[in-house]
Amino acid sequence: MVKVTVAGAAGGIGQPLSLLLKLNSNVTELSLFDIVNAKGVAADLSHINTPAIVKGYQPESKEDKTAIVEALKGSDLVIIPAGVPRKPGMTRADLFNINASIIRDLVANIGKTCPNASILIISNPVNSTVPIAAQVLKKLGVFNPKKLFGVTTLDSVRAETFYGELTGINPTLLKGKISVIGGHSGDTIVPLINYNTNIPLLSSDKIYDGFINRVQFGGDEVVKAKNGAGSATLSMAYAGYRFAEYVIKSLTGGDSIISKVPDSAYIYLPGIEGGKEFSEKYLSGIEFFSVPVYLTNGSISGFVDPFKKLNVSEKEKKLIDVALKGLKGSIEQGIEFVNASKL
Ligand code: NAD
Ligand code: LMR
Repeated sequence: MVKVTVAGAAGGIGQPLSLLLKLNSNVTELSLFDIVNAKGVAADLSHINTPAIVKGYQPESKEDKTAIVEALKGSDLVIIPAGVPRKPGMTRADLFNINASIIRDLVANIGKTCPNASILIISNPVNSTVPIAAQVLKKLGVFNPKKLFGVTTLDSVRAETFYGELTGINPTLLKGKISVIGGHSGDTIVPLINYNTNIPLLSSDKIYDGFINRVQFGGDEVVKAKNGAGSATLSMAYAGYRFAEYVIKSLTGGDSIISKVPDSAYIYLPGIEGGKEFSEKYLSGIEFFSVPVYLTNGSISGFVDPFKKLNVSEKEKKLIDVALKGLKGSIEQGIEFVNASKL
């Protein structure tokens, strides 16, 4: 029995993500929350002949605080793509003013209603929204760092696609051969080629640099092409589902199954065994960082230390240094926002 709630289910990501979740036979209940049109999306998906029972929840007025609580009750997994997307000329950080309070309030409801749920945050700026979520849960006394994930899978998906284009390899064969670590914005995104695998190398430094740049700024390509109509939605729904599928599988596997996920997630390292030491030794004490994870029963049971396992090159080490500088301010901004908020 797995109940999954999507908050922001009627949006550009929310709808296709909910469709993919409806197709997962391990999902027994799919709860769709949005401030608009959640009931319509739920009615539509409920006609699909898979076992998940779909229910839609939307507030009847701005004052209505009950719909979110009803949606969340008993959730094992909550996925959040609620909030505004970028328009051309904006950075993800420009979304902070609107999305920070959306995440704060949704996560406060999770902390009060289903504190044991695994939480996947898609809403941008991920580098700040995940620290916001952590700080809210800390303030409420229910923070479980092993169950809070910032979804950075789209960076892995892009890395596999672009590397495949450059090498002529079927990109589906590249899963797990490029780990993307760091954060989810511009030069905080660090693709690491796993030199321990038999991955074909790019033919020149120039092509390598172009590859790194395209992964780091891949989101801009979509924002520009959509020309004011939003950012990546379909590829994000695919990526979000790819990660969620591992979490759902781990939820059905009990405590005995440990699965290594080929993708990273942006997590609070000090809450994971060995994470504090890793952060102090290699990340100048930065506490939120995306690394490949292991999952057990909806929780992070370990992570891959790239410096021990992935044969990090000198060029990659420099990329990590740049990423750390970018992450620091975004993390602090998120934490300070919650400290100044009343929950
Ligand atoms: P969208 O505008 O199409 O959909 C957002 C949905 O959120 C809307 O349906 C809206 O009604 C809903 N919403 C707003 N406030 C809400 C609230 N308080 N509670 C519940 N629902 C609420 O936007 P989108 O294209 O789906 O993008 C959503 C977010 O995901 C953006 O912040 C975007 O930047 C981010 N994103 C992240 C990644 C990633 O890799 N992590 C990738 C793409 C987009
Ligand atoms: C992406 O990487 O596509 C998302 O973070 C959306 C964006 O704003 O680029």
